[in-house]
Amino acid sequence: MGHTGAGKSSIAKLIARFYEFQEGRLLIDGLDVRTFDLQQYRKQLGIVSQVPFLFSGTVADNIRYAVPDVKESEMLEMARKIGDGEWLDTLPEGLHTEVGERGGRLSMGQRQLVALMRVLVQRPAIFILDEATASIDPFTEWQIQQALNLILTNSTSILIAHRLSTVKAADRIVVMELGRIIQEGTHESLLKEGGHYATLYNMYFRHQSLAYVEQAKELIEGD
Ligand SMILES: Nc1ncnc2c1ncn2[C@@H]1O[C@H](COP(=O)(O)OP(=O)(O)OP(=O)(O)O)[C@@H](O)[C@H]1O
Ligand SMILES: [Mg+2]
Repeated sequence: MGHTGAGKSSIAKLIARFYEFQEGRLLIDGLDVRTFDLQQYRKQLGIVSQVPFLFSGTVADNIRYAVPDVKESEMLEMARKIGDGEWLDTLPEGLHTEVGERGGRLSMGQRQLVALMRVLVQRPAIFILDEATASIDPFTEWQIQQALNLILTNSTSILIAHRLSTVKAADRIVVMELGRIIQEGTHESLLKEGGHYATLYNMYFRHQSLAYVEQAKELIEGD
């Protein structure tokens, strides 16, 4: 995590080798990524970018993107694991709904769910999520959280977090500022440290926590 422009998306793009780097090394399981066959390596990655990439075609076409032979029954089964599949039922033709140019006919939340479904059927070794900053309604957020939890159990995950629940799900939090990693640790250890993470937490995340909401409610009701 880190402020806007800190370099979070850039790091994700470097890991996926969308950019070449001039200095340093990037190791996966102790091996330099530069030694990997690019095509083979990318197949191991499931990536959901800040603005999910959908192409013109149906929802099913988009989900099948990385695994062309996945069966429709498998997609439906997976879809039902996300909030009982209600998100799919609200689409006019379910899996066969046309998403439009760049997914323009779907809401932002629906686009994110389709992008996450793509990763769910792919079951990549490494999942990279650049969480969207656009705000979504709590119900969609809950569905996205369910899809995320399903992915997190199967893949090593690198999450660029904009929501408290995502940050707290991490075993290891890396804090970036001005293109550099400045802190690493767990939520508790970083809060105790009182550096940039604590500042960011108070600025962006504290108001998302239940304790904060309840405290605010008490203040209002006490008036
Ligand atoms: N292709 C590029 N060439 C040169 N500079 C770039 C390029 N892409 C991004 N930058 C710059 O690198 C810095 C880090 O950008 P990056 O997109 O990684 O930030 P971020 O941490 O993901 O921010 P946000 O939270 O807004 O998504 C910014 O100052 C940006 O302008
Ligand atoms: Mg970014």
